[in-house]
Amino acid sequence: MKNLTDVIRDRRATPSFDGTPIPPADLRQILDAGLHAPSGYNMQPWRFVVVQAPEQKRKLRAASYNQPKVEEASVMIVACGDMDGWRKDLDQMLEMGLEGGMPESYAAQARSSVSSYMSNFTADQMKLWLNKQVMLAYTSMMLMAESLGYDTAPMEGFEQDKVHEALRLPLSYWVVALLAVGHLKGADKFDGGRFGLNHTVFGEEYGKALKLS
Ligand SMILES: Cc1cc2nc3c(=O)[nH]c(=O)nc-3n(C[C@H](O)[C@H](O)[C@H](O)COP(=O)(O)O)c2cc1C
Repeated sequence: MKNLTDVIRDRRATPSFDGTPIPPADLRQILDAGLHAPSGYNMQPWRFVVVQAPEQKRKLRAASYNQPKVEEASVMIVACGDMDGWRKDLDQMLEMGLEGGMPESYAAQARSSVSSYMSNFTADQMKLWLNKQVMLAYTSMMLMAESLGYDTAPMEGFEQDKVHEALRLPLSYWVVALLAVGHLKGADKFDGGRFGLNHTVFGEEYGKALKLS
């Protein structure tokens, strides 16, 4: 496995894939990495549709502005959030927590604060909240795939309604992003470069340089 430093430095958004299949054990390891991500209240509101069948990939490509890598990738992971997830999973999440040592008082407090916090969300607030949670799990999957030697491509170029239709998603699902996983075909993408700390990081308050020595 590649170490995390190399994975973060060498990862590129893969332009083209060769379509070779991914062994199920590796796919499971990639998915498990996502399921271990942290989430607000540990609600784990993410849901993933793993698309591998050629016919399904073809439909997903049509819903993704015809981007060829959707069909070329070995696996497409469609990362969604379930807007009703917290309602359905709250009891089970707390039971798991209690089994793992969560104090009863914490569980009682979590039950009431999750319900009062989440039930007041507008649809837009819920989508924002889901985006945060789902992208953490998604990123864990992306880094695990890269660490196992696969190439990945994060994708937001898709049409929400069309992905819903292609994958027969429930109405409560919000599609957050697609993750293509496979093996690079041809040359890798250029390195677009990154802004440095002085451009994007402040120390203590906005506008002040962070001192690291
Ligand atoms: C959330 C997200 C969505 C993206 N969507 C697409 C996409 O739909 N199609 C595409 O070709 N690249 C997409 N990209 C790739 C970016 O263009 C790429 O990550 C960026 O140019 C930096 O390049 P690098 O990842 O190779 O360093 C996306 C990246 C992110 C993080």
